[in-house]
Amino acid sequence: MVKAVYPGSFDPVTNGHLDIIERASKVFDNLIVAVLENPRKTPMFTIEERVMMLNEIIEPYPNVEVDYYQGLLVEYAQKREASIIIKGLRAMSDFEFEFQMALVNRKLSCDVETMFMMTNNMYSYISSSIVKEVASYGGDIRELVPAQVYPMIMKKLSALKF
Ligand code: PNS
Repeated sequence: MVKAVYPGSFDPVTNGHLDIIERASKVFDNLIVAVLENPRKTPMFTIEERVMMLNEIIEPYPNVEVDYYQGLLVEYAQKREASIIIKGLRAMSDFEFEFQMALVNRKLSCDVETMFMMTNNMYSYISSSIVKEVASYGGDIRELVPAQVYPMIMKKLSALKF
């Protein structure tokens, strides 16, 4: 049985993330979508909010679960007995940093393998940062995020404005 972890900040989850979740759920027996801290980013949503959004969208995938962790990704993968880390690659601009992270993670644990999935070209321009930027200026993000998540983002934005 092959268990994989799909880690990320998911701040918020986008249609690009959902596409990777859907495809990875067909490849692996079990997929854990894990919300982790990215020390380089200041999140808009709390971990609990991000977990809630992800739980909404994984309902159709019985072999997918959502979890969170504060600490090293490889430590988490080992704790959950997952042998694979799944990352989505959008463009060459993602590659350099993802390559570095994959090498660091291998140095920290040679038992956990990083595998990359190419993002569907329909979603290659979408990132959580772009979603937040467009939404904060009043732009329409309905084609960028899962339908269940859209109201949660709008609610958060209006709460932040007051
Ligand atoms: O969605 P993101 O922000 O690109 O996800 C990055 C994330 C959270 C997967 C990465 O920052 C991470 O693995 N954080 C956990 C801490 C860790 O293990 N760092 C060592 C890898 S260099």
